[in-house]
Amino acid sequence: MKILVTGGAGFIGSNFIRHMLKSYPEYEVINLDLLTYAGNLENLSDLEDIPNYRFVKGDICDRGLLEGIGFDAIVHFAAESHVDRSILDSTPFLRTNVIGTQCLLDIARKRRCRMVHVSTDEVYGSIEKGSFHEESPLMPNSPYAASKASSDLIARSYHETHGLDVVITRCSNNYGPYQFPEKLIPLVIANAIRNKPVPVYGDGLNVRDWLFVGDHCRAVDIVLHKGRAGGVYNIGGKNEQKNIDIVRKLLMTVARKTGSSEGPFLGLITFVKDRPGHDRRYAIDPSKMEREFGWGPATGFDEGIEATVDWYLAHRAWWERIISGAYREYYQLQYGKKAD
Ligand code: NAD
Ligand code: DAU
Repeated sequence: MKILVTGGAGFIGSNFIRHMLKSYPEYEVINLDLLTYAGNLENLSDLEDIPNYRFVKGDICDRGLLEGIGFDAIVHFAAESHVDRSILDSTPFLRTNVIGTQCLLDIARKRRCRMVHVSTDEVYGSIEKGSFHEESPLMPNSPYAASKASSDLIARSYHETHGLDVVITRCSNNYGPYQFPEKLIPLVIANAIRNKPVPVYGDGLNVRDWLFVGDHCRAVDIVLHKGRAGGVYNIGGKNEQKNIDIVRKLLMTVARKTGSSEGPFLGLITFVKDRPGHDRRYAIDPSKMEREFGWGPATGFDEGIEATVDWYLAHRAWWERIISGAYREYYQLQYGKKAD
């Protein structure tokens, strides 16, 4: 089995590649990644010498490039993934998330191979009470979510129209090692360690469902092997948290682990102007994954937060190189080319 993983130099993609190479040493994994600001080959530096892993720098919108790569299945993570950036400029979101996904669907169709399209729970929009199931209507609110909803529906249409073997996953908020420090959890940890203000949008009462990244990777692995063609699978942690509670928990954890008192850390909390169109609450019903495959989150939130804070404390050089921009040189050093 030769798997093309797109966006494998990003947060979830790099965790997924590590999971796959460990779980299936007989598989070949090709990582196709454009190395945008979010792509960092340092996330995979421990895998570079593994003979059945290969990195290809390239764009999922490049049909010629896709034609030249051999594979039996696609797991599609590549995307512009940050909501705040989509508010500033939606152009790369439409290009990569919509057109890029279309290019991959076309090559999957030509090769008659399976494609897992990694969508998101944000496609459903916000919900006051209860939770979204796989048949709920899509009501995306941010340009990011709208671009993901578009690609999600295009993937669905390729199954309905062309009989393509495509499976769609809609996961909730991930956290864990190698998450780019623009996202809430790594941003709070990195700012706390550096004694910088911790921005909380609006009143801090927005709710997200959080899942440890390893549990997401395990779920995508199951869907790749067992998911029904044309099927949609919600992947969630049954772990709803208010932003402010997470921020407080993280700050107290960093204080404890660095042998400091909590007060000055909690004093870093700074309420700032709200994100425009900020979804109030995300909640999905993940029971289909449990019913059909016996999947459920294995990492509790307390355990996951402890592990994540430990990881960011132990890998300060990794995130400081991102903040300083030095991580952009890694590709040049390793591969003799400039990451542009
Ligand atoms: P990320 O931003 O950390 O990584 C995205 C990766 O895609 C980067 O390595 C980047 O270089 C690459 N990429 C971007 N444009 C590309 C292009 N045109 N061609 C090739 N590669 C390109 O993202 P992430 O948080 O790891 O998310 C991965 C996927 O999972 C995305 O599709 C996202 O929508 C989805 N998702 C994320 C979460 C979450 O909480 N992070 C939750 C649910 C779903
Ligand atoms: O739900 C799945 C989605 O989760 C994924 O599809 C996205 O790719 C991923 O980025 C994530 O989107 P969010 O917008 O929920 O994640 P983010 O980490 O940006 O924000 C989490 C919450 O924290 C959100 O309510 C906004 C808030 N926030 C975020 C940042 C960066 C703050 O209050 N302060 C901040 O500085």
